Amino acid sequence: MKLGFVGAGRIGSTTAFTCIQHLDLDEVVLVDIVEDLAVGEAMDLSHAIVGLDKYAKIVGGSDYSLLKGCDLIVVSAGLARKPGMTRLDLAKKNAEIMRSVAKNIVKHASDSKILVVTNPLDVMTYVMWKETGKDRREVFGMGSLLDTVRLKERIIALGGKPRRIFMMGEHGDSMFCPKSLAEVEGEVDLDRAIEETRGVAMEVIKRKGATFYAPAVCIYRMVKAVLEDTKEEIPTSVVLQGEYGISDVALGVPAILGRDGVERIVEYDLTDEEKAMLMKSAEILKERLKELGY
Ligand code: NAI
Repeated sequence: MKLGFVGAGRIGSTTAFTCIQHLDLDEVVLVDIVEDLAVGEAMDLSHAIVGLDKYAKIVGGSDYSLLKGCDLIVVSAGLARKPGMTRLDLAKKNAEIMRSVAKNIVKHASDSKILVVTNPLDVMTYVMWKETGKDRREVFGMGSLLDTVRLKERIIALGGKPRRIFMMGEHGDSMFCPKSLAEVEGEVDLDRAIEETRGVAMEVIKRKGATFYAPAVCIYRMVKAVLEDTKEEIPTSVVLQGEYGISDVALGVPAILGRDGVERIVEYDLTDEEKAMLMKSAEILKERLKELGY
């Protein structure tokens, strides 16, 4: 199994580190516009994996041809918002990066599935899908799984036990939890937990500048589902074509992940209120795509 990364920054390197510890990989490749960073991370990871009494060939560089033969490529290349930069400026810049990454993946690793992480996540997932021209099952994004993990953490912190619960919609302000499907033990203020989940990433970023351990673990969970063909149900950003009455936009929905990527989108019966929240996410995301010319 060959796993690729485009973007060897905090997310790319931390995810690669998580994956080499927990998966049996033959080869790992890190590509970054900053060649030394990709090479240095690959060297450090090569030493780490031998320290684990395992072996995988781990290489880094700025040449996209390294990605040839990848089964799955995790894309976290991009910028974070800088002071003075608007949300739209960031989306434009990162969309430009997605277009260039898409072109290179199609050229060198056209059979690979693509897991997008770059923000704004759902918008970038759509751009990557559109620009690669690939089947929608092969281009998907990680966002709602992280929101789900953060929601579970909030529930536990408030004294409850999350049995079955997940987040849907935009990986952003309009995310929501379909409470009608939730199973939580204990008396917990679920609305409070959901509200805290919406703001918690910013609380981390305010203090340490970025989030990467929790995202890395969530990306690893999705990588594992695909490479090991586990058919696990995971909230995944994927382009909808009629599911939940929505089309031509990517957003977080429960999906079965396996060898072929998104093997099935799971359509639950949502309440009217939940359907309206999903629709609202879709409208917001379509508006953002329009701003970018899609
Ligand atoms: P980072 O700045 O540490 O790493 C980004 C890397 O992308 C840098 O090494 C940079 O050199 C590289 N890069 C930039 N342009 C490139 C190009 N054209 N080709 C190849 N590489 C290029 O940032 P970090 O913390 O790793 O975050 C990466 C992205 O992931 C950001 O957009 C961030 O907002 C997003 N993110 C998404 C999450 C999610 O849940 N979907 C969670 C956390 C972060």
